[in-house]
Amino acid sequence: MPKSLDESLSFFKDKISDCIKTGKSISVTTHIDCDGLTSGSIITKALIRAGAKCTVRTSKEFSKKIAESFKTDSRDFHIITDLAGGFANTLDETLGDNWIVLDHHQIPEEEKDNQNVINAWSYGIDGGTEICAGGMAYLASMALDERNSDLSAIAVVSALGDRQDQGERKSFTGKNFEIANIAKEQGLVEIDLDLLLVGRETRPLADALAFTSQPFIEGLTWNRGACLTLLNASGIQLKDEGRWRVPAELTEVEKRQVIESITKFTSGKNATEIMSELIGYTYTFPREDRQSFLRDGREFSTMLNSCGRINRSGVGMAICMGDRNKILREGEIILTDYRKMIREYMNVLSNERWRISESETCVMVNGVDIVPETMTGTISSLIAGSPKNSGKIVILRTNGEENTIKFSSRKSFSCKSDINLSELMRTGAEKFDGIGGGHAAAAGAKITKDKLDEFLNYLEVNVVNMSGTNKSQ
Ligand code: C5P
Repeated sequence: MPKSLDESLSFFKDKISDCIKTGKSISVTTHIDCDGLTSGSIITKALIRAGAKCTVRTSKEFSKKIAESFKTDSRDFHIITDLAGGFANTLDETLGDNWIVLDHHQIPEEEKDNQNVINAWSYGIDGGTEICAGGMAYLASMALDERNSDLSAIAVVSALGDRQDQGERKSFTGKNFEIANIAKEQGLVEIDLDLLLVGRETRPLADALAFTSQPFIEGLTWNRGACLTLLNASGIQLKDEGRWRVPAELTEVEKRQVIESITKFTSGKNATEIMSELIGYTYTFPREDRQSFLRDGREFSTMLNSCGRINRSGVGMAICMGDRNKILREGEIILTDYRKMIREYMNVLSNERWRISESETCVMVNGVDIVPETMTGTISSLIAGSPKNSGKIVILRTNGEENTIKFSSRKSFSCKSDINLSELMRTGAEKFDGIGGGHAAAAGAKITKDKLDEFLNYLEVNVVNMSGTNKSQ
């Protein structure tokens, strides 16, 4: 049945109004990553404002088992955000008409006709770059009440967390651009061209440079001593009355000094790529305190990703929904722990060379017994961000719960392959009774351990030995 986005959003509004009128309780189920926590928070906040009876929970994936568990759930109506692509038939079977999915992942063609699936791709919107689940939830919240436009700020965080800042100089395009501008018009976000250092508002300059791993600058990334030496030599004043200055405090002249020093340090190697990743649009929330990790949109999104990845989703959702007291300290601790874990995993993976096998097109990384399942996406993104993997596809695997193996794949910067990773992962996983999906440039899959060799063979044929075009076999 052909439908427009507006028609679907008004269908959503009618469904929710009916739930509120008839006193039906609503359950929101969302993913644990930044886009999941933001989309879940946006829609939950809008439901609460509308007077709905609702609860929210997170899940690290969606499966037939989860869909079936809804059947015995005491809640009457289910909203699923950032999850459940490919499960429309199962949801129809288990819940009849009492569900809606708000999502942006690629879905099978036939699912686009299901009116309960409100997915970006069904309306010709690129869910990989133009809108994410947070944006879809924002549009749905606006359909409920235009006063929800303040939730646009959280939708900006979701798009940053899902790395949809893929326009020129890390700008937004499509719906994300529109939503970011709504937030800007309301004075909720400031958008500037700046140095993209991690911890712009919170970290001493040398630390910010050392912890910036996208781009990965050989010799500087994760090497605080080298960063300090470089910055001292550049002549920039690193302290102000005894306090370390943070990147957001640099003047334009000082920023240029930093850029020149880095260019000199890399002696021109990958300099263009490094600079194109290092300078871009920043999204600052002026209402958050200075030097708070919530003031910079990307840092906010990292904090949310870390919450989910270390099983503290509730903290992230509380912050998204406006909690700013004790919970902030918790968020800060989570962020520190998460970053420490990332450094540890990356160190082990680069020291234990046997874990990595490379071909011209692909880097396969074995993270078994090192990388926890919930962090495969973070680690595969980081590996793909390293200049030495530029142009390649990265596939990381690790062990999951219940005798499974989790795969996470990414296209690195300037990867020209037209392989669609979402198709690759879905087709491959289905062949071996697993589940897979995602986006063209970032996708995941899960299979049982006994199918590992066969799945690796499949990847060998379809990615490792491919040089260009591909159709999964
Ligand atoms: O797990 P990973 O971070 O590698 O997944 C990349 C993207 O693919 C994410 O957006 C995730 O939600 C999506 N994905 C999916 N279905 C799966 C696995 C991952 O849609 N079975």
